[in-house]
Amino acid sequence: MYVIAGASGNTGRIIANTLLDAGKTVKVISRNAEHVADLVAKGATAAIGNLNDAAFLTAAFKGAKAVYTLIPPTWQVTNWRQYQTETGFAIASAVQAAGVPYVVNLSSQGAHLEEGAGPISGLFYVETMLNSIPGLNVKHLRAGFFMQNFLAFTGMIKHLNLYGSSLKPDLKIPIVHARDIAAVAAEELLALDFTGNSVRFVAGAADVTMAEATSILGKAIGNPDLPYVQFSQEDELQGALKNGLPLTIAEGYRDLYHALNDGNYQDGFERNDQNTTPTSLQWFAEHEFGQAYGAAQ
Ligand SMILES: NC(=O)c1ccc[n+]([C@@H]2O[C@H](COP(=O)([O-])OP(=O)(O)OC[C@H]3O[C@@H](n4cnc5c(N)ncnc54)[C@H](OP(=O)(O)O)[C@@H]3O)[C@@H](O)[C@H]2O)c1
Repeated sequence: MYVIAGASGNTGRIIANTLLDAGKTVKVISRNAEHVADLVAKGATAAIGNLNDAAFLTAAFKGAKAVYTLIPPTWQVTNWRQYQTETGFAIASAVQAAGVPYVVNLSSQGAHLEEGAGPISGLFYVETMLNSIPGLNVKHLRAGFFMQNFLAFTGMIKHLNLYGSSLKPDLKIPIVHARDIAAVAAEELLALDFTGNSVRFVAGAADVTMAEATSILGKAIGNPDLPYVQFSQEDELQGALKNGLPLTIAEGYRDLYHALNDGNYQDGFERNDQNTTPTSLQWFAEHEFGQAYGAAQ
């Protein structure tokens, strides 16, 4: 049996579907049965509860041959790092208590940075907790910047006629579609041929700068001259607070983008055939971003 955390989400839903299509026994975790009703209709069983509840997770993980884990993003907490640590601790405790032999864990590029990278340094501690479990085989998928992140900025583009962040305009970063991460996770779960703890980067089709990304997104919405504007860290922080983001989360993004601009965020990453995945930003822009932009207020 496979257990999939975050099964109603961007990566988990695709992974659960892929395993069900392969004829595997799948248990899906969600806080709300309605969110995973389609997967249950397809043959999965559901465990309804929260990822910060170690007792619930221990029961859900019992008998699993492998578990897919992640720390979902949330804007509803006042201390993001504490939320990540508590959720990671609950997951790791349950993996150990239930005697799970294999974990595929969604992590991030930059998770080697113990401090200074905001939420990504939180993932360093989650990786460390899982690595410390005796006998566990764990593969950390260190994903690049999600293409889906751009969907949160359709309003900015529509109302200000620009896309901006504190990221340098000419900084090349791997940009990846969540479906490619799900495909890699499903491949690892089906093969279960890793031992000990290891890392696999999942980097999308190419490294792209924010200036290039803005041009690609702009073309898809009929605005090929859409400018990219680099904001100061302070302006970005104040903008995030004005939009209602809790302070620790706004500060986390500031630190993350600062770490990305700094360069050591990408230490250890080199693009190769193994970490390059099929979906391009052009595909996302034309097939998903354009539609979301059209629907944005
Ligand atoms: N964004 C990036 O650029 C980036 C880059 C690298 C790595 N990552 C990693 O990828 C993760 C996101 O993966 P994803 O897109 O597959 O996740 P997702 O779709 O955002 O979330 C997965 C599921 O988690 C559940 N969930 C949401 N908030 C929760 C909470 N506060 N407590 C417990 N469960 C909650 C929801 O399911 P239910 O409502 O059904 O419970 C949701 O469908 C990030 O958190 C980060 O760790 C992100």
